[in-house]
Amino acid sequence: MIAWYQENKRTLPFRDIKNPYFTWVSEIMLQQTQVDTAIPYFERFIKHFPTICDCANASLDEVLKLWEGLGYYRRAKHLHETAKVICNEYEGIFPDDLKSIESLKGIGRYISRAIYSIAFEKKAAAVDGNVIRVMSRIYGDDRDFTKTTHIKALENQVYDLIEDAKPSDFTQGLMELGALVCQKKPKCETCPFQEMCVAYQEDTIESLPYLPKKTKKSHHIYHVFVVMKNHQALLVKRDPNGLLANLYTFPQYDGTYDQALKQFESDFKIEVQNIEFKFDIKHVFSHQTWLLNVYLVTPKDSSLLSFVSLQDFPYAIAKAHLNIIDKL
Ligand code: ADE
Repeated sequence: MIAWYQENKRTLPFRDIKNPYFTWVSEIMLQQTQVDTAIPYFERFIKHFPTICDCANASLDEVLKLWEGLGYYRRAKHLHETAKVICNEYEGIFPDDLKSIESLKGIGRYISRAIYSIAFEKKAAAVDGNVIRVMSRIYGDDRDFTKTTHIKALENQVYDLIEDAKPSDFTQGLMELGALVCQKKPKCETCPFQEMCVAYQEDTIESLPYLPKKTKKSHHIYHVFVVMKNHQALLVKRDPNGLLANLYTFPQYDGTYDQALKQFESDFKIEVQNIEFKFDIKHVFSHQTWLLNVYLVTPKDSSLLSFVSLQDFPYAIAKAHLNIIDKL
């Protein structure tokens, strides 16, 4: 596998740089995002915040702006909180023992071990979705890896395979094999493990890794009221505790159309003069879907409303609403 990795590894901006801060940021971004999508975000983030304390000393709004469009914004919030802890309690130096790394907010079993092995070159088994795919197929292992006990057992199994390999190459090699070859639809003809792969030999690739049935997403319908004035828009900041916390959107309401419109008029102390349905747009989250009915609204009197320019708006706008802006 190491030989395969040396031959086939992608050149990535966070690869082959021994900086735990870079490894940390990249792994957080890659946790729920494709590599190609994450790369420009990573580069922009590091350029803005070259050190952990640069990130710690910024505002949450600044960090969220750099995360705008990546989704799963809690990652950015935890990253910022942890940057502050490292800057203030660890003198800006990323801790180099696994217990301390794992105790940091937003850093779980996988990312702590990824940082420990990739950036510190210490032996540890980092098991993510890629590794689960590779290992479950090679060993014909149909355990349910949504269960932590089975993840821990797999970690031990992976750990024993490292032997004298360079930990950073081993961790990244196994992940890279999962990312480039042992994909959902795998390219077995180029896999260095084809001959010894139980799933390939027994034709069980389709059913591995075993995935328990997912809980169904909940579906939500909202009404979105777009008010524009001189190319500027009316935006609101979302509650700091709910979904898309602290991000900005056009005013968005649930309930019936009549209820939504009434609440909107009451919240902004306006009367709607004209309203026109523009389009609906669907947005899919990991655990719910939104159907947004988008209206263009003209108030009778907009003199008391605050409008902002969308082009150079300094705060992060939720992706679902960026998509609305694109369609307007
Ligand atoms: N996916 C998540 N982390 C990765 C890494 N370090 N290399 C390749 N793919 C990854």
